[in-house]
Amino acid sequence: MSQEQWSEVDRYIKELFVPPDPALDDAMQDSEAAGLPAISVTPSQGKLLFILARAIGARSILEIGTLGGYSTIWLARGLAPGGRLFTLEADPKHAAVARANLARAHLDDAVQVRVGPALETLPQLAARGVGPFDLVFIDADKRNNSAYFEWALRLSHRGTLIIVDNVVRRVALYDEDSEDEDVIGTREFNAALAAEPRVHATIIQTVGSKGYDGFAIAVVR
Ligand code: SAH
Ligand code: DHB
Ligand code: MG
Repeated sequence: MSQEQWSEVDRYIKELFVPPDPALDDAMQDSEAAGLPAISVTPSQGKLLFILARAIGARSILEIGTLGGYSTIWLARGLAPGGRLFTLEADPKHAAVARANLARAHLDDAVQVRVGPALETLPQLAARGVGPFDLVFIDADKRNNSAYFEWALRLSHRGTLIIVDNVVRRVALYDEDSEDEDVIGTREFNAALAAEPRVHATIIQTVGSKGYDGFAIAVVR
């Protein structure tokens, strides 16, 4: 199968399961118009995040890596009534686009966007006593995945679902001697996750319009 076929099937799935939706479609369009990289989760992956949040009855969600807020909208829509979501973004320009997209989706009350490197904003959240979270979605700079996972565990409870994006992308394409910090970080993270006694975890490979990739899913024991 080729990338062209994966994209075609992804379109087919989107047409079946993700009907046109102004808030999501405009978020995608305005992110692109603002020059943000086209690296958000795909529509069917976004719907999966929504389904997982719903399935666990999430009342509190933490996202690391906001971009234009596309995945944020999906996750926030999966919150139980009155639920809250914190999303962490290093780039002020990305955060500004996300805030506008979240406001248009009528999610600005439920969602707080925190600007700054996540390794600075996470200790601030923890110091304020925020959490524990029912679901954590890690999707920022891959070299820090292990540090983010450690924070996710610290801000979790028994049953918290932790999802990590892009744990196969590039790792599977580069050799084991890659010197790319993000590839090394992802490899180290995957190995540590496999050995982590505090969670049950696995990695699911995916294909689609964003190519060949995968996400890690873990539940806190
Ligand atoms: N979750 C988004 C995509 C996130 S892309 C979606 O699916 O729609 C990764 C984001 O992480 C980018 O916006 C990037 O600016 C941000 N990022 C990179 N390094 C970061 C850091 N150290 N702290 C917080 N965010 C970071
Ligand atoms: C990149 C980051 C992502 O979170 C993603 O889903 C795809 C690509 C990137 O940095 O290239
Ligand atoms: Mg990603």
